[in-house]
Amino acid sequence: MLPPQPSPVRFEHLPDGLGIGVASPRLTWTLPAGTGSQAAYELELGRGGRTHRTGRVDSAEQILVPWPGAPLTSRERATVRVRVWSPDTAGPSRWSTPADVEAGLLDPADWQAVPVGAAWDEDPDGARRPARVRKDFRLGRPVARARLHVTAHGLYEIEINGRRVGDEALAPGWTVYPHRLRHRTHDVTGHLTEGANTVGAWLGDGWYRGRYGFDGGTRNIYGTDQSLIAQLEVEYDDGTTDVVATDATWTAAPGPILTSGLYEGETFDSRLHDPAWATPAGARPGDWTPVRTGTRDPATLVAPLGPPVRCTEEIAPATVTRTGDGRYLLDFGQNLVGRLRVTVDGPAGTTLTLRHAEVLQDGGLATRPLREAVSTDTLILSGEGPLTWEPRFTLHGFRYAEITGWPGELTDNQVVARVHHTDMRRTGWFECSDPLVNRLHENVVWSMRGNFVDLPTDCPQRDERLGWTGDIQVFAPTASFLHDCAGLLDSWLTDVGVEQLPDGTIPWYVPVIPGEPMWTPIHPGAAWGDVATLTPWTLFQRFGDRELLRRHHPMARAWVDLVERLAGPTRLWDTGVQLGDWLDPAAPSDDPAAGRTDRYLVATAYFAHSARHLALAAAELGADADAERYASLADEVAAAFRRRYVLPAARLVGDSATAYAIALAFGLLTPEQRRPAADRLAEIVLADGARISTGFVGTPLICDALADNGHLDVAYRLLLQTECPSWLYPVTMGATTIWERWDSMRPDGTLNPGGMTSFNHYALGAVADWLHRVVGGITATAPGYRAIAFRPRPGGGITWARVRHETPYGTAALSWKLTATGMTADVTVPEGCTATVELPGRAPLTLGPGDHVLRTADLEEAA
Ligand code: BGC
Repeated sequence: MLPPQPSPVRFEHLPDGLGIGVASPRLTWTLPAGTGSQAAYELELGRGGRTHRTGRVDSAEQILVPWPGAPLTSRERATVRVRVWSPDTAGPSRWSTPADVEAGLLDPADWQAVPVGAAWDEDPDGARRPARVRKDFRLGRPVARARLHVTAHGLYEIEINGRRVGDEALAPGWTVYPHRLRHRTHDVTGHLTEGANTVGAWLGDGWYRGRYGFDGGTRNIYGTDQSLIAQLEVEYDDGTTDVVATDATWTAAPGPILTSGLYEGETFDSRLHDPAWATPAGARPGDWTPVRTGTRDPATLVAPLGPPVRCTEEIAPATVTRTGDGRYLLDFGQNLVGRLRVTVDGPAGTTLTLRHAEVLQDGGLATRPLREAVSTDTLILSGEGPLTWEPRFTLHGFRYAEITGWPGELTDNQVVARVHHTDMRRTGWFECSDPLVNRLHENVVWSMRGNFVDLPTDCPQRDERLGWTGDIQVFAPTASFLHDCAGLLDSWLTDVGVEQLPDGTIPWYVPVIPGEPMWTPIHPGAAWGDVATLTPWTLFQRFGDRELLRRHHPMARAWVDLVERLAGPTRLWDTGVQLGDWLDPAAPSDDPAAGRTDRYLVATAYFAHSARHLALAAAELGADADAERYASLADEVAAAFRRRYVLPAARLVGDSATAYAIALAFGLLTPEQRRPAADRLAEIVLADGARISTGFVGTPLICDALADNGHLDVAYRLLLQTECPSWLYPVTMGATTIWERWDSMRPDGTLNPGGMTSFNHYALGAVADWLHRVVGGITATAPGYRAIAFRPRPGGGITWARVRHETPYGTAALSWKLTATGMTADVTVPEGCTATVELPGRAPLTLGPGDHVLRTADLEEAA
């Protein structure tokens, strides 16, 4: 029997199809339960009152399937549905529920809007009061449909007739603005009325011209203006159209936001706020003066590739404590990224100060780790009754907040923390019998949430919050299991390509902030620059998107070619500044690159690994000559690595855990060297009582290096260690996110004195990928999880684990528990996928889609 219908189709990696920037969007659907596999599909495209059907297409493809018709034109709407055939049934399934897609402005010539902002003189280096811009307009007939295409130089929040449009925060996000400025399309039909209307926008400095970067930051990175670019397109009942675009007829006025900055926080004077300002009644000719218009090449305006940043959760304070001096200390019980929303009433001029911090020290906020990020919001009351307020153009990383100046008694329902990040679909879950490991996993999830704020950042709290390439390079496998981050990372990798230097150098962080002394001129570094080769490959493996691999391939190739030139005929990359095994716990607090592992050993190992992955990518893309060339390069580099860094008896130069871990995990040793090297790695780990001795490079690799080479038990010892340094030590110290340093907080409760002491850095959380694959037991063995290995490898006294992943094909899940006679496992294989299951000590078996219950007692023993 053929089950009812496939899922509605999805477009590219987007949450919905409105305003799509791809003229021929690829389509993905999942099969109805019980289909098994797909023998054929048929797509139906409805556009312009006509429908077009592909007819039956004999194909098993169901993810990122090519658009089945002529490309969309700007603003064109289409409806898509699909039906499928299984190999066992004659007839097709029912059609899927139709999904709508609507192109945004695909042609630069579609844009009439120009940037508009304040015309008054500003001190380009001083504090600047953000502007608001507005425009009154009349619509002569009933409106059938209206779209707002909008972006800004700086940040914006836009309203029509006093009602906010959309719920996106920190729009338009951060891209390499001169090349790519993201805009978004909103359906605003319901915001408009026949007759008088008003559109108005709040503006903020954001990344465009705010102060950003280390040591006081750089101002005006992209420009000195703060402007809105908006185009409202109205279609009337009778089919005629009108456009209201930002132009010289708009007006500007300073708003009630007195100052605003991503690091600094925001000051809002509600005495200056007229709630009707963005309605036709809000026109006060004296206050509003003509805007200054600017320029922007419309060819640089791009549609989003992923979901926006928005508030995804509200958290009430766990405790509110009045401190002796009339301040309130709030503990939200969770280190998070977002901002406070307060509801407050008090006399005019009352000033509330909201400060934020991740940890406490001596009973008060520990703000030293924030460095120069002041993270303070200030609200001045108007005295006109209760007000609900939260800042607009800033975010803070905090668990604790301190409020000064609250009028009267603060009760816990008057303040809420609003969690903000890119609103990615959650796709991965893990749980096991060890509560500390569960909290570790939860901390990884929270650090991903806090640091995926439009782009993947290192940390969310101090004067940094940059797209560090090395951090995401090691974390991408974990990230792509936990959330659907394909669109976000594809967009960011596009910026990495834009920022790549002509010689192939990948900057340390993207977007680049010019002039940072330590990182200028930009020079290449291993593990960080390798994001160019490894992260597109990870995304291809996890999301099955070959086009993405193709798009970023020139960047990857230019990177490997550069390293090949740098290494020269020796094939050893042993020059230049390298960060090595960054934050090895043995490195001094003020020199995190000075770890135990030779930096050039790390650099050459990554060279081999990137060359290998470039070869794999080339093969995948049908570039056979390249595949061969880079595979031989990888072999040669591995051989050079062995000559230079492998001593007799498979000892590695420096004898550090990271050296062994990288050599094993990157496949750089001969088969004969593997076992003794792994034994030595195990010995090193145990000699230190199974505490961690690795940094950013070794930590993501060490458990695999051990487990795949006969030392699963030692990997578990490391995982379950609670003494510092270890993954669980922070958990025992009450951590609710992953720390930057193994000892960001020391056992005596004092903070690490290093200048970099973040409590929210995802890199060391990359071990979660091992939890998912090895403890839980789900691994993709073909791109997009089309083939899956279910291979739980219990140890460390863990008696059960449950892992689940929403693959592009649907749910994959494994829940195992140890019993008196072995193991039982509940396995779910997504429709359309194949699986091998290998339970401990048992021969692997092949399973098809659906739910299966397996018991080791019933299975054949492994040969
Ligand atoms: C960041 C890191 C980054 C490192 C490299 C730090 O300040 O927070 O996570 O990768 O610098 O130097």
